[in-house]
Amino acid sequence: MKVFITRRIPDIAFDMLGKEGVEVIFNNEDRVLSSDEIIEGAKGCDALITLLSDTIDKKIIDTFEKVRIISNYAVGYNNIDIEHCRKKNIIVCNTPDVLTHATAYLGFSLLLAVARKIPESDSFVREGLFKGWAPRLLRGHDVYSKTLGVIGAGRIGGEVLRRGIGFNMKLLYNTRSKKEQLEKELGACFASKEEIAKRSDFIVLCTPLNDDTFHMIDKSFILNMKKDAILINIARGQVVDEKVLIEALEDKKIAGAGLDVYENEPQVPERLKRLKNVVLLPHTGSSTFKARDDMAVLCVNSILDILKRGKMPQNRIC
Ligand code: DGY
Repeated sequence: MKVFITRRIPDIAFDMLGKEGVEVIFNNEDRVLSSDEIIEGAKGCDALITLLSDTIDKKIIDTFEKVRIISNYAVGYNNIDIEHCRKKNIIVCNTPDVLTHATAYLGFSLLLAVARKIPESDSFVREGLFKGWAPRLLRGHDVYSKTLGVIGAGRIGGEVLRRGIGFNMKLLYNTRSKKEQLEKELGACFASKEEIAKRSDFIVLCTPLNDDTFHMIDKSFILNMKKDAILINIARGQVVDEKVLIEALEDKKIAGAGLDVYENEPQVPERLKRLKNVVLLPHTGSSTFKARDDMAVLCVNSILDILKRGKMPQNRIC
């Protein structure tokens, strides 16, 4: 049995596969592989562990001779042509649950960081500009008792909403169908996207990327937002029309944004970097030691389920 891992993931994955006598080939260079390199690496392999930065399209899938399972080291799987894998009987798995809390509170940290100007305040001190307490110094936006709107209230979105309770926030959410549990347990109210745009002080995007959500945050959504509202994106960059967002931030049509993801990663537009009302992170939503280890374990277990244990992995997408 042979597994190809497209980039070095935590050691626990290698230990687990080694113990089961599975041969591992991996990309030891700290960079994203090209399509040709993925094709080359996958030759003769039974399984792959891929990353969200690998585009596993029809062209690559069609070259697979033996691959039975692709285990994606992420909860999002928009980087893989799922329909084509289905046609070719290739199983695809992801890493849900284990990164839910890490990603949710990274989202909430971004919200607080933008609202209370934390990176800007940190730079202010480091640059020697702090000359003592001052009544008008670096005033931010209140979070307590404000309205939090979450778009994409799945596991991560639900946990973002839960964190709003600690700040006595009014909770709105939007998903494809109403979530009774969020309403009963958290007192969250279902709202249309338009209502969320109009009523929320903080909007957190947690939706998966697909044809329906591509550029969901467009000009009309942003123009509906309150002038002092803040947009947080911990989903995928393409959910937001980045050009429109930048214009809105430059023109102060909204108060700020916190972004963990970008439309053309790893490119981050210079115009975005120049803005003070924005906090930018390098797609580290799930990046805690524990979450990243647990993701590795989940990826390997899915592969071992198929290759060694003769059972279907729980976290199967197709
Ligand atoms: C994922 O796993 O899809 C997230 O983007 C991780 O940060």
